[in-house]
Amino acid sequence: MQPRRLNRESKKKPHTPFWLGKLLAKVPPWPVFYPLYEASRLNLEEELYWSPRIPAGFDGFRIVYLSDIHFGPLFSEERLRDLAQRVNKLHADVVILGGDYGIDSDGAIEFFQLKPGFQAKTAVLGVMGNHDRMKPEENFEKLLAAMRDDGVMPLVNDGVVLERKGSRMAFVSCDDFYCGEPDLKKTAALAKTADYTVFLPHMPDILPETYKMPGPLFYQLVLCGHTHGGQVAFMGHAIKSSSIYGSRYLSGWHHEHGVDILVSNGVGTSGLPVRLGAKAQMHLITMKKEL
Ligand SMILES: [Fe+2]
Repeated sequence: MQPRRLNRESKKKPHTPFWLGKLLAKVPPWPVFYPLYEASRLNLEEELYWSPRIPAGFDGFRIVYLSDIHFGPLFSEERLRDLAQRVNKLHADVVILGGDYGIDSDGAIEFFQLKPGFQAKTAVLGVMGNHDRMKPEENFEKLLAAMRDDGVMPLVNDGVVLERKGSRMAFVSCDDFYCGEPDLKKTAALAKTADYTVFLPHMPDILPETYKMPGPLFYQLVLCGHTHGGQVAFMGHAIKSSSIYGSRYLSGWHHEHGVDILVSNGVGTSGLPVRLGAKAQMHLITMKKEL
């Protein structure tokens, strides 16, 4: 009888190379969890915005801007109430909610029906985001009513002109560029009676449309969101951009056609609750008249 041969090769266990095992043993688990941790934090960006164009009466005017909260599975009611408390402690002159309150229009209605109660000395303004205009269409009026019931003035192809020490400043916004019915002509007309206009579209992608309009631009400052700063971004480039302009308007301050544009990274997340290279932000902007 032929003795059975032991196949020694088949008995070998696959193993991690010695050098790799040593390296992995030294790597702490935090890099794996860091994007989750980063998404759970919210940074308050305090900025002095100097410009000679700011009307004298608005020197020292304080604006809180926050966008893209995305209340829902990734942003709890408890976090929403904490957020409102944090905003209200800033005692801003105006609070601007930049849109994308939930994951769709049902979520946006629920957001305002919870009555988070954002407060400001003069007005709380609410912009319409693409998620807020997601179907069903009949939700639109319901959402506007829920916003008003919570003390928020919806700005949909609409605006408000504030008066202070003899100066007039307009805050105007149109409907969402992709999912709504934006009327830029109507929005621009609202700015005509003001000394200075802040344009508040949900997303920056609409800005090149305003550059095509005849005459000078109807606004002097833009505050917008939508991009989330890419959520996961490296060296100023997002892995996946929500803008047709790629990374052109990814995050932060931009200057185009003589106008300053702030693109906020926003508060919440969509898709996955992760952020890397794009910290969550809300902004406290103090306007300063540059002489
Ligand atoms: Fe958006």
